Amino acid sequence: MRDLLASLDGLRERLREIPPADERRLQDLHTEILGRKNGALTDILKVLPTLDAETRKTVGRAANALKREFEDAIAARERALAQAGQAVADVDPTMPGRDRWRGGLHVVTQVVDEICGIFRELGFTRAVGPEIETERNNFYALNFPHDHPALDSQDSFYVTDDLLLRTHTSPVQIRTMEAYRPPIRVVIPGQVYRRDPFDASHAPVFEQIEGLVVDEGISFVDLKATLSHFARRFFAADTAVRFHPSFFPFTEPSADMSVRCTVCGGAGCPTCKQSGWMEILGSGMVHPAVLENCGIDPERYTGFAFGMGPHRIAMLRYGIPDIRLLYESDVRFLSQFTGGER
Ligand code: PHE
Repeated sequence: MRDLLASLDGLRERLREIPPADERRLQDLHTEILGRKNGALTDILKVLPTLDAETRKTVGRAANALKREFEDAIAARERALAQAGQAVADVDPTMPGRDRWRGGLHVVTQVVDEICGIFRELGFTRAVGPEIETERNNFYALNFPHDHPALDSQDSFYVTDDLLLRTHTSPVQIRTMEAYRPPIRVVIPGQVYRRDPFDASHAPVFEQIEGLVVDEGISFVDLKATLSHFARRFFAADTAVRFHPSFFPFTEPSADMSVRCTVCGGAGCPTCKQSGWMEILGSGMVHPAVLENCGIDPERYTGFAFGMGPHRIAMLRYGIPDIRLLYESDVRFLSQFTGGER
């Protein structure tokens, strides 16, 4: 009888060790205890009638206790399963899945790469220069007069008396012409700095792409043909272009180039300020004084240069109304330009 009681105690111990929701272990134990063939409790109950009255009573009570405990365990398991079922019901299967976030290039970076790519097809090399420049490279070597307003600290960020954050990428023209002999064909992307208010159409830091060509026999025809080709490659093959006179100290003559508004097709819209045209770059023939400042003989060599603003070009191309959108890093806005990655 002691053996029987000990084996019932052992089964009770094992039952208590099973977590309420562990259905498999509970089922296994169920078979082991109450299985019709070889169930431990079944066997005990089978031999019960052969025992004397006293033993029958003790063992019978222990067996019934175990059976009850087993039934309680089953009930607890059912409660646990019902709770888990509730948790499943709380999940909304119509929720959109959580995608992995993928990085993408900023729309201005894409525009810079695309523009440099078009000039690369024409044999231009990509060059860069420092963002902190000397007054000489940023202004004087480019033929700015000493009393030009851009030299005023009201208009430019000075680091020391004669060092400043470059106000344009044109100083890299000087660096290039001093480092290399003609023929020169370079594009120069980079950031530039101006003391401008940060509003819908101005930012104190923005991107420029400079271009410079110097060789024997370069004329205004080369300028017009190269820049018109660029506009048609970048916008559309039938894009109309227009040059009109302009002024820069470092080019003579100078011309701004406009393209037919790509948003309204020329009918007039807010992007082109109702003019039907979008001005996209400044350009001109390199001033002989600039060539001379760099030790290049202006009697033998001529050249043309141009400068454009990728922020502005991105705004014109995509009809973006406020330049600040390009600085805010709002993925909801920027993901429009990265093929839908988030
Ligand atoms: N550097 C001029 C600007 O910032 C642009 C330019 C570059 C014009 C080269 C002519 C030639 O406005």
